Amino acid sequence: MEIVILGGSRQIGKLAADAIEQLIRRKPDAVLGLATGSSPLPVYDELAARHEQGLDFSRASAFALDEYVGLPAGHPESYREVVRREFTNRVNIKPENVHGPDGMAADVPAACEGYEQAITAAGGVDLQLLGVGTDGHIGFNEPGSSFASRTRIKSLIEQTRRDNARFFDSLAEVPHHVITQGLATIMAARHVVLVATGAQKAQAVRDFVEGPVAAICPASVLQFHPHATVLLDEAAASALK
Ligand code: F6R
Repeated sequence: MEIVILGGSRQIGKLAADAIEQLIRRKPDAVLGLATGSSPLPVYDELAARHEQGLDFSRASAFALDEYVGLPAGHPESYREVVRREFTNRVNIKPENVHGPDGMAADVPAACEGYEQAITAAGGVDLQLLGVGTDGHIGFNEPGSSFASRTRIKSLIEQTRRDNARFFDSLAEVPHHVITQGLATIMAARHVVLVATGAQKAQAVRDFVEGPVAAICPASVLQFHPHATVLLDEAAASALK
């Protein structure tokens, strides 16, 4: 795991965007793995700015990490909508090349299997962008998730629902269930770039970077990834030894 400690989220956004830009220039039909939440926003801002300068996403495709179950299409906090608003609508990636788990599927297990097949058919994810939860989750693989897990339905723990309530009008509106890529799905990406900022992430960062590889801290599985880059600000890095 490569750990890079930077001055702030703007610099983090630039460094992550550098990795994505180099990938797209080397492989114009690259497959990007997209995260939602606050952490990747500076990356998306930087990529949108670079697109205005000519960075071309027209042959790229993208897969979202996760989706709430039960939020109707067009709901402003559904992750399909967030991904569109924060990133894909701001660059020239084709809408039909942007994929997300179907949180409204009548047959959720079939939708999850179909999502795995779509990732495989696209050639696998070249670069997966990740944030990390205060409990060490990646995607919505909460503590205890199997390292062998693939895309599936999961329950959110209360801490994560509380953490995400800031995006909704009230805690009661935060769904209890999500569909998330599994830890094995994430580990299959050729490069993972995890972004964490702020003191509230310091303990989770210490646990996954320096603690044992254990299901209680899902992000710790990244210690086994052959190409994992962790971009931190000083606050998020503050508990590292
Ligand atoms: C979102 C996701 C989550 C978030 C994590 C951190 O697609 O997969 O794992 O990355 O909950 O969220 P923020 O960045 O809002 O602190």
